[in-house]
Amino acid sequence: MAPLNDTPAGALKIRVKRKIYPASGVRAEQPVLKDIAIDIEPRSFVVLTGPSGCGKSTLLNIIAGLDSEYEGEVALGGPDTRLGYIFQSPRLLPWRTVYENIALALPDGDARHGRIEDMLRQVGLEGFSSQYPERLSLGMQRRAALARGFITEPDVLLMDEPFVSLDDPTAQGLRELLIGLWNRRPTTVIFVTHDRAESVMLGTRILRMSGTNATIVQDETVRLSPSERTDRDKVLAEQRRIFRET
Ligand SMILES: Nc1ncnc2c1ncn2[C@@H]1O[C@H](COP(=O)(O)OP(=O)(O)O)[C@@H](O)[C@H]1O
Ligand SMILES: [Mg+2]
Repeated sequence: MAPLNDTPAGALKIRVKRKIYPASGVRAEQPVLKDIAIDIEPRSFVVLTGPSGCGKSTLLNIIAGLDSEYEGEVALGGPDTRLGYIFQSPRLLPWRTVYENIALALPDGDARHGRIEDMLRQVGLEGFSSQYPERLSLGMQRRAALARGFITEPDVLLMDEPFVSLDDPTAQGLRELLIGLWNRRPTTVIFVTHDRAESVMLGTRILRMSGTNATIVQDETVRLSPSERTDRDKVLAEQRRIFRET
C-alpha cells in the first residue's frame, strides 16, 4: 500500500484483513478483527464504537503501531506525522507535578513555559500546576491527560475511552472541554467508546463495530452543528437516527 506521503498529515488508510490473538496456555486462539478498511480525512473526529470486548482497543493499538501482529497495513499521511495517544487511565507520573507531566511531552525550548501555562488555563487547571496527580480528582487528572495530549499538536490523536468510570456531570464537562479544544485546533481524532450518546456528541463520523470476529458494520456522518453538540435533545434525536433506536 502507498505510504500516503503525498497526502496531508492527518490522513489515514487502515486495512486490517485479520487479527488473531494466538493460543496461550489453555486458551484457544481468538480471532478478533476481520476485513476492516477505513480511509480517514484529515481533521475528522472519528468515533469507533461497539460493545465491550469487540476489539476497539485492539484496532486502536494497531493504528498506533503498538501491535504489529496482524495481517494488513496502516498508512499515515505525511512523512513526519505526529501521533498522540490518550489512554483509558490518565497514566500521569505520580512523582511529577501536573506541570512536569505536561512538560515531559514537549521538547526543550523557550516557548515551552508559555504554552504549558496557556494549555493549563484552557483545561481549567490554572493554579494546579505544582500539584501532584494523586492530589487531583479523577476528573482533573483526565483534564491533565487531555492537556498532555493536545500540547504536542499531534496530527492524529488516538483516545481510548478516556472518560469512563466518571460520574455523568464530570464526563459531560470533559466532553465539552474536548469539543472546545478540538474546535480551537482541529486535528484527526480517533476516539473509542462503547457509549452511544458520547459517540454522537463528539464524532463527525461514527464507525460501528460488531461481531465476535468484528468488522465495521456501519459508517455514518453525524448531522450536528458544533452548537447542537451540547444540546441533549438534539444529540438524543441524532443517536436514535444513527442507531435506529425507538
Ligand atoms: N493480549 C490479548 N491476548 C488475548 N486476547 C486478548 C488480548 N487483548 C484482548 N483480547 C481479547 O480480544 C477481544 C477484544 O478486546 P479489546 O480490543 O480489548 O475490546 P474492546 O476494546 O472493544 O473492549 C476480547 O475478547 C479480549 O478478551
Ligand atoms: Mg477497550
